[in-house]
Amino acid sequence: MNVVPRASQWGELIRPDRVHGSLYSDPAIFEAELQNIWYRTWVYVGHESEVPNANDYVVKSIGPQSVIMTRDEQGKVNLLLNRCSHRGNQVCSYDKGNARSFTCPFHSWTFANDGRLVGYAFPDGYEGQDKSKLALGRVTRVQSYRGFVFGSFAAEGPTLEEHLGGAAETIDRLVRFSPEGEVEVTAGFLKHRVKANWKFIIENECDGYHPAFVHSSIFGVADSAIGKLYGGASTAVTRDYGNGHTEIDLRPEFRKRDAPMSWFGTTEARLPDYTARMKAAYGDQTAREIMIDGSPHVMIFPNLFIAEIQMFVIQPLAVDDSVQHVTALQFKGAPDMNRRLRQQTMGSVGPAGLLLADDSEMYERCHRGVLARNPEWIFLGRGEKRERQDELGFKVGHVTDEIPSRGIWRHYRSLMETR
Ligand code: FES
Ligand SMILES: [Fe+2]
Repeated sequence: MNVVPRASQWGELIRPDRVHGSLYSDPAIFEAELQNIWYRTWVYVGHESEVPNANDYVVKSIGPQSVIMTRDEQGKVNLLLNRCSHRGNQVCSYDKGNARSFTCPFHSWTFANDGRLVGYAFPDGYEGQDKSKLALGRVTRVQSYRGFVFGSFAAEGPTLEEHLGGAAETIDRLVRFSPEGEVEVTAGFLKHRVKANWKFIIENECDGYHPAFVHSSIFGVADSAIGKLYGGASTAVTRDYGNGHTEIDLRPEFRKRDAPMSWFGTTEARLPDYTARMKAAYGDQTAREIMIDGSPHVMIFPNLFIAEIQMFVIQPLAVDDSVQHVTALQFKGAPDMNRRLRQQTMGSVGPAGLLLADDSEMYERCHRGVLARNPEWIFLGRGEKRERQDELGFKVGHVTDEIPSRGIWRHYRSLMETR
């Protein structure tokens, strides 16, 4: 349709149990999403452990925009836009490094790593100019939660804690897998590019309906017990935390097994060093509970997916073009565990990994499919009649129910309707 709906019209495209196919394929809607979602709400950018020392930097993104995450000499983390204030050239050419300043390759203007313009080339000719007005652009608000750094281009709006809401607890649950209570993002990123709309990806992350079919080959080859978690008889649940955050909570199944580290397909005996450190840090009982429950499977809207052992950062480039940045999670103080996390990440979502290849094929097929004119709608009603509330008031349902997709779209509609 190529016309952005007015506020009152989003409800015509987003119904409780279905959404219109144009939401995934219309370039005008994608542009509206950049303004109303990506350049407004809190977006995950990077992790503090990626810039551990003064003057470290990494190049990240918010949607199609390149963002330099720096740690300045005062130790403060800054999110700077990678755009020279002279004529727009990208000032940083490397993915990461350590630098006090960035010198633009075009005419050599130099910016400190806190964004200040510190010098022009051939400074005569700039008499009377105010350097402080020619700094690098910044992401307006920067806040971090347990080392996860988020940015928002909106000066006003919910705080990061308000945005995360109930989903913050999943990050708390994640960091407990480190005997020191900290995640480290130090394994390096792989980038997977798909010709598909970003929303197919974020909906898929907590879609517990597809694994039994899409991933049957890897579950078979690996002789894995994961498949059963997503079966019809599973007691695992899907959860909608509100604000677009969704989860597949596998704890009910792991608690039935009652075996520490079974979520990771291993045993305490095979990770004696890690087990000892966890017990020393949390006490025998709590360590045992953490290691039975397993790491969370949660999609923090709009772009951070924590998938038990790895982390994905989803980046939209265009209506039909997205990148998944993938890295193995690393837990501080857990070297033997980390080695396995890297190996399993390479096996499942590395260049030859089956898991991500399976999913990518599905996103691209969906994207090609929605370009067909008829039927116009995507049906998301599975489990609608059997939704219930958990003890904290969040919507939950069977692991194969489409509670996550409905939750994402409810929040999406609220963001697109306002302003
Ligand atoms: S564009 Fe950067 S110095 Fe000219
Ligand atoms: Fe999948």
